[in-house]
Amino acid sequence: MSVKVNELTKKYGEQNAVDAVTFEAHKGEVLGFLGPNGAGKTTTMKIITCFIPQTAGTATVCGYDTDEEPMKVRECIGYLPEHNPLYKDMYVREYLAFVAGLHKLENKKKRISEMIEMTGLGREQKKLIGALSKGYRQRVGLAQAMLHDPEVLILDEPTSGLDPNQLVDIRSLIKEIGKSKTVIFSTHIMQEVQAICDRVLIINQGKLVANDSIDSLRQRVSGETVVTVQFLEKIGIAQLQNIPDTLRIEALPGNQWQIISHKKHDIRPKIFKFAVQNGLTLIEMRQDTYSVEDVFRRVTSKE
Ligand SMILES: Nc1ncnc2c1ncn2[C@@H]1O[C@H](COP(=O)(O)OP(=O)(O)O)[C@@H](O)[C@H]1O
Ligand SMILES: [Mg+2]
Repeated sequence: MSVKVNELTKKYGEQNAVDAVTFEAHKGEVLGFLGPNGAGKTTTMKIITCFIPQTAGTATVCGYDTDEEPMKVRECIGYLPEHNPLYKDMYVREYLAFVAGLHKLENKKKRISEMIEMTGLGREQKKLIGALSKGYRQRVGLAQAMLHDPEVLILDEPTSGLDPNQLVDIRSLIKEIGKSKTVIFSTHIMQEVQAICDRVLIINQGKLVANDSIDSLRQRVSGETVVTVQFLEKIGIAQLQNIPDTLRIEALPGNQWQIISHKKHDIRPKIFKFAVQNGLTLIEMRQDTYSVEDVFRRVTSKE
């Protein structure tokens, strides 16, 4: 097991920033760590990488406990922190040589060249880090994280703020790395997870609310149909619950409602009859199926 987290908890005063989180990550796996802002992603990653201690629970990386053998953990982990702190007045190669020195690497030059090649930094390698665009700085951060060839890579929002082309490049790089390593990367973008992950962890308010493959996440909601309706008149949720075969109802802005039913029922004629019987003017009705994005919203929205 590359990474094993058990009942991990971090308290800040009264708040459980991370609340009894348990999961594992395996070699050859890209694990997406998904959740809204403030969910506890960064805090969890900081504990796994030995930057801050937990309040309770345990985390082990390649068999080493983060509390007991932090130096060993750091040896087998590469970390790209959330805001990618870099020395802007260092040159790309100079900075990577500095990092290689910290890791006491042998054959530094060769390894640095390999990383520059792998992260596509070739054309920018002679520049000051401060002169690079955001996407290239991100590549420097990735090169830095992978320099000592760690077993496990922890990437905190590695694609935030990149333009669409850079996004595609960095995503495929992460996917490639994930074939031979264990990668845990955080994001709040669902499509990103769909594009590169094998499995997804969803965290909300410190709690893990899903730990599933993308396919089974989809299946979780594939048995349901959503009909979005809009009435001219203002009505209440209680009234809508009289529509037969309704599972749940969710309010949208502007007098719109999502009426959720089992797929086996076509609820649309019933909605129409309901409107007629109650003297309501139905001005829109549209049937959708749930996307993985909806699953994300559902498991992370406050009840
Ligand atoms: N040093 C700190 N002191 C107090 N609260 C903190 C500290 N660091 C993080 N938090 C709180 O913990 C929660 C989780 O934060 P974080 O892990 O950064 O979330 P995410 O990375 O998912 O956006 C947030 O509510 C945040 O305000
Ligand atoms: Mg964060």
